[in-house]
Amino acid sequence: MKQPYEKNLLEEIRKSGGPVYPPAAGNTGWSCPSNIAIVKYWGKKIFQIPTNPSLSMTLHEARTLTRVEYDHDPKRTRREISFRFEGREIPAFEERITSYISRMQAYIPCLSHTSLMIDSRNTFPHSSGIASSASSMAALAMCLVTLEQDITRGTAPGNLLKKASFIARLGSGSAARSVYPRLALWGKTDGWSGSSDEFAIPVTGFHKEFEGMRDAILIVESGQKKVSSSAGHQLMEKNPFAPVRFDQARGNLLRLQSILEQGDWTGFIAVMEEEALTLHAMMMTGKPGYLLMQPGTVSILHRIMEFREETGYRAGFTLDAGANVHLLYSRQDAGAVEQFITSDLLKYCDEGMMIRDFMGEGPEKIMS
Ligand code: DP6
Repeated sequence: MKQPYEKNLLEEIRKSGGPVYPPAAGNTGWSCPSNIAIVKYWGKKIFQIPTNPSLSMTLHEARTLTRVEYDHDPKRTRREISFRFEGREIPAFEERITSYISRMQAYIPCLSHTSLMIDSRNTFPHSSGIASSASSMAALAMCLVTLEQDITRGTAPGNLLKKASFIARLGSGSAARSVYPRLALWGKTDGWSGSSDEFAIPVTGFHKEFEGMRDAILIVESGQKKVSSSAGHQLMEKNPFAPVRFDQARGNLLRLQSILEQGDWTGFIAVMEEEALTLHAMMMTGKPGYLLMQPGTVSILHRIMEFREETGYRAGFTLDAGANVHLLYSRQDAGAVEQFITSDLLKYCDEGMMIRDFMGEGPEKIMS
């Protein structure tokens, strides 16, 4: 069954009768950040609909830069797509992107007559073990919706960011959240007006306590993950604890609403750490179960909890689907927390690798 936004979009496209646009060639480019989820998206239904809502902080440093040269000709029957990643052709990536763009033609009809040369690169090292699907699919989605506006001379229906989030979600769920600054929410949630399973929305009006929040990404294990997120989402279908987990996420989002409004760091850390531990508990209790934390991960988590207890600084951890730890902390406590990272945590990181990141302002247009 079609969801409401998709249904409306397809209806508007149908009503417009598929007008033919004159030939156009040009380029567009976007730099999009990655994001770190506070409430995790883990489990999905058909058509990339999440089994629970999620909320994330948009990062600043970890980004993907994507440039697209396009050549649109309504008479063209066979469009070509080429994709280069960090200057190299990678056939597996090109295949995935070509099939994604073919699916997106339903929502951006002019793509069927448009050849595309796509060039993409990340600001973070390929080997760092940081998932790039959120930033890369968001950057590509921003390029696709802006080139549609260029080709159709601004007549294509829909709000640009909402459509970009919708298109990004169909590439990778977490990418839906990366088109907004600061904090974003994806998934229909009681009490959050405008929330949707089809696209993310920006979260505004949170307390200034959380402004400029820092994220030290501690790279415990670089290299490729042993179990992909897609496989992880799929394992949730048969996880006996899944229904309880989905309720927990919904409850955590309700709790977060007042936590964010009131600037309650204690509540924020409690929700964030519970979410991180549950995410990994879901991995361990799947069939088959698996374990992505490494000894270094566990040591870091212990040290962070001890440090907070001893000092009262506003710092807590979260985890992605991997061994690396994100240490989120208040900008006001940055000096002390960064000293603690150097003295106590870097020794657990792969070659002392760490990325210093912080709450970012979302996508930036690349001017060429
Ligand atoms: C653990 O967005 O990578 O990072 O939709 O299959 O592309 P796909 O999965 P993906 O899953 C992200 C999972 C997570 C939690 C989160 O970002 O919410």
